[in-house]
Amino acid sequence: MLAPIEPFRIKVVEPIKLLDRKQREERIKKANYNIFLISAEDIFIDLLTDSGTSAMSDNQWAGMMVGDESYAGCRNYFHFEKTIKELTGFKHIIPVHQGRVAENLLFSTILSEGDYIPSNNHFDTTRANIESNGGIGVDLVIEEGKHPEVEYPFKGNIDIEKLEAQIKSVGTEKIPLGMITITNNTGGGQPASMENIRQVSETLHKYDIPFFFDAARFAENAYFIKMREKGYADKSIREIAREMFSYADGCTMSAKKDGLANIGGFVAMNDDSWATKLTNKLILIEGYRTYGGLAGRDLEAVARGLEEVTNENYLEYRIKQVKYLGDKLLNYGVPIIKPTGGHAVFVDAGKMIKHIKRENYPAWALTVALYREGGVRSVEIGNVMFGKYDAGQKKEIYPPLDLVRLAIPRRVYTNSQMDYVASVFEKIVSEPKTVKGLRITYQPPFLRHFTCKFEEVE
Ligand code: F0G
Repeated sequence: MLAPIEPFRIKVVEPIKLLDRKQREERIKKANYNIFLISAEDIFIDLLTDSGTSAMSDNQWAGMMVGDESYAGCRNYFHFEKTIKELTGFKHIIPVHQGRVAENLLFSTILSEGDYIPSNNHFDTTRANIESNGGIGVDLVIEEGKHPEVEYPFKGNIDIEKLEAQIKSVGTEKIPLGMITITNNTGGGQPASMENIRQVSETLHKYDIPFFFDAARFAENAYFIKMREKGYADKSIREIAREMFSYADGCTMSAKKDGLANIGGFVAMNDDSWATKLTNKLILIEGYRTYGGLAGRDLEAVARGLEEVTNENYLEYRIKQVKYLGDKLLNYGVPIIKPTGGHAVFVDAGKMIKHIKRENYPAWALTVALYREGGVRSVEIGNVMFGKYDAGQKKEIYPPLDLVRLAIPRRVYTNSQMDYVASVFEKIVSEPKTVKGLRITYQPPFLRHFTCKFEEVE
């Protein structure tokens, strides 16, 4: 088999620097062992997120030069609108500057106090926008999706029986819409199958409940359908995407992922009255309806990015690069969520780091070790991010999994840089005691992972 390879050549380079060990040691200590608090310039390989970190193509950069910065009706909006209409088939396209604004507009318009929004797994900002508008986000991912070890092709599927039971138990009037996140970021970047998407659509529509996608990584999901689902091998990514969207009534999208852009997003939908309400609110909080918080040049970059992202050579490289890193880690005995997802490798740090107690945050400790050993930045999705103090029991309650996510920016790093990341893991695996447990010395009242401080414990 031929080795996975980048289907592009590099025209512009951005130098990166590996600080020496002593400097890294100083930086991490100064940041109170919180990787968010280190300057990006002091990071060598940055796998914190795949969001807004893509490298744009020469075609996208050329598009930036034809940005029309007119307040109303700029030409780039019409290109943006046409591209998204052709891709999704939805009637109304409302631009926003990033995904969470799409969520804010949607949920602040359609939710009433005590409403439920079912999904496979809501991403944090989606859940936060539901909850801050008085709603309740419900996660109904299939059982396979909850177990890192279980190999299953579509671990992002929704449990249809649970969805139906949910509708019956709370009543259709309490569910203004149902969602599915493709790919399922929270569950490890795992795809949903076309069959499941169709069933979710049928189930919701049987009860007259609208169906929306969180489409942040729709192209990666479409590629998995092509590779793994019967009947799709000979279909183009565009055909698959079009079929996926045909089952839904709208979507929110952060274009910072599969838009291949550094900023941007949109809400799209068929319903005229919802679209009018959202547009009115858009003008209040983001900007006029033909720019939605973006410059004309940004709209152009997203339009061109959405055209490029369905290219199959690109997607093959993308998905294979993530798998390439995942397979290397497995070879070194690092437990990861299997199979590897579309945008990131998720390390099961709770299982990997056995000598550190849960209350000393093994996954967070691994993020510190990855920086200390190799200047690599990752993100903890575990005991610090989701742990909550229970006043009754007088202790912290932890989530089922303590993970470290290695999110891979699109078209940014080469496979030899992936080899490097894997070699940092190899070193840590061979000397696990270099990973030290942590104690929190300061924490804010919410979203503590961004700013909390730690000290190391022996
Ligand atoms: N939905 C999904 C599935 C996401 O992964 C994100 C962002 C959003 C919505 C929100 O979009 O950032 O443009 O406002 N995910 C990033 C991440 C932050 O690192 O996974 P946004």
